[in-house]
Amino acid sequence: MLKELHLRKVGPCDELDLQLMPRLNLITGDNGLGKSFLLDIAWWAMTRQWPRALNKELVSGYVARPQSAKEGSIEFVVEGKANKEVRYKSTFSARDESWTGKAGRPHNPGLVLYAMADGGFAVWDPARNYWKKVGGQDVQDRVPAYVFSPRDVWDGLQDPERGQLCNGLLSDWAGWQKEGGAPFEQLCAVLATLSESNSEPLKPGPLTRISLDDARDIPTLETPYGKAVPVLHASSGVRRIIALAYLLVWSWQEHVKACALIEEQTTQQVVFLIDEIEAHLHPRWQRAIVSALLNVTQALARDARVQLVVATHSPLVMASAEPRFDAQLDAWFDLDLVSGSPAREPQVRLAQRPFERLGDVSRWLVSEAFDLPSPRSREAEVLIEQAETLVDEEDASAQEAQELTQKLEGVLGGIDPFWSRWRFAGAQRGWWTLPEPGQPVSKPAARKRTRT
Ligand SMILES: Nc1ncnc2c1ncn2[C@@H]1O[C@H](COP(=O)(O)OP(=O)(O)O)[C@@H](O)[C@H]1O
Ligand SMILES: [Mg+2]
Repeated sequence: MLKELHLRKVGPCDELDLQLMPRLNLITGDNGLGKSFLLDIAWWAMTRQWPRALNKELVSGYVARPQSAKEGSIEFVVEGKANKEVRYKSTFSARDESWTGKAGRPHNPGLVLYAMADGGFAVWDPARNYWKKVGGQDVQDRVPAYVFSPRDVWDGLQDPERGQLCNGLLSDWAGWQKEGGAPFEQLCAVLATLSESNSEPLKPGPLTRISLDDARDIPTLETPYGKAVPVLHASSGVRRIIALAYLLVWSWQEHVKACALIEEQTTQQVVFLIDEIEAHLHPRWQRAIVSALLNVTQALARDARVQLVVATHSPLVMASAEPRFDAQLDAWFDLDLVSGSPAREPQVRLAQRPFERLGDVSRWLVSEAFDLPSPRSREAEVLIEQAETLVDEEDASAQEAQELTQKLEGVLGGIDPFWSRWRFAGAQRGWWTLPEPGQPVSKPAARKRTRT
């Protein structure tokens, strides 16, 4: 489990300090402010591997390069077995292009899973990827981690020296389904929990073929319209969900088998890093995904503590965390561009924000999480700004106000709450009169839309 991260002169922030909570950690922030980068660093801190270094097909997860090799540092605190905390500080060696620190066997943070935004996935399993003793020395000569490109998730992961590391979703799902044992039951259960609605659960259908030239038995999903759809033809949203379901089941199954082989207990900690958790998902799904993932991961690793670190751009994801959020267990962090002194360019800052229940998605859009001035279209926002300015202008005329009203009618819906403010402000300025109570609303709000 990851407890702290402290970065100096590495990534978009000059200084970044993150104190993670034990269960759900939400990270928001504009594009390019370093959410994915932070997850890459978190993955590295726990596994000491950079995803891209282990799989050249990835388009992210490169070794972090500090702003200056002399000043850059990454420091972190990991909690491992028996709640023991270990602090580690690493600096960058420009010559070796690598991060170095105290030598030797790193601390065991538990099972670490990382779902990347583009569908790549990485697994570090303490039973399969940890160091071993050879001739009394700690050495890392196991598979360093399982890093899947989006394609590897479906077709399998090979290692040039070690051979087949994972069969991939298509082959494993078909194999598990034919066997009809525990892995298939688990997969069905995980798919059902991740389904966005109970009335239409994701349910495997019969295996099928999709071409004369393709000898693979392809898994299918039942659909509400009665036809089973091959998973290769499923929508991107469904494919993202089934890939997550498969990788969770695969990672846990393999961990359990490996623990049996080495005669050790299964891990007490699972850390799940998820970038752009909403990627490809319909709003209905975005509303359910955080809670569902927390539930399935906890259900698989029943005796372990599960920590989630989630980056998101979705107000629905934030709103959906409201019923579950507990300040003793969870936290929300926000990356922002903060203007400094006039002489300095703006700086990227990470702040932990108090999580308030805002109740609806529009409020999340205009909150510090997403910093929008209003949840409307950009055009409406500009006109509303003009309207607010006009109200404050001493010599604004009724005609100007009427012209602006016409423009507003072209972009604002009839029930937009701004109309009542505009009506009232205009009446106070004497631009028009408000109707008597009980009378039909007349100009300007209810005027017929005029087309030009
Ligand atoms: N390997 C790297 N080394 C150093 N900085 C990096 C690296 N990868 C990403 N970054 C930093 O992160 C920024 C991109 O942020 P990113 O995490 O993709 O943003 P977000 O996910 O919030 O949209 C880049 O502008 C750069 O400053
Ligand atoms: Mg990103």
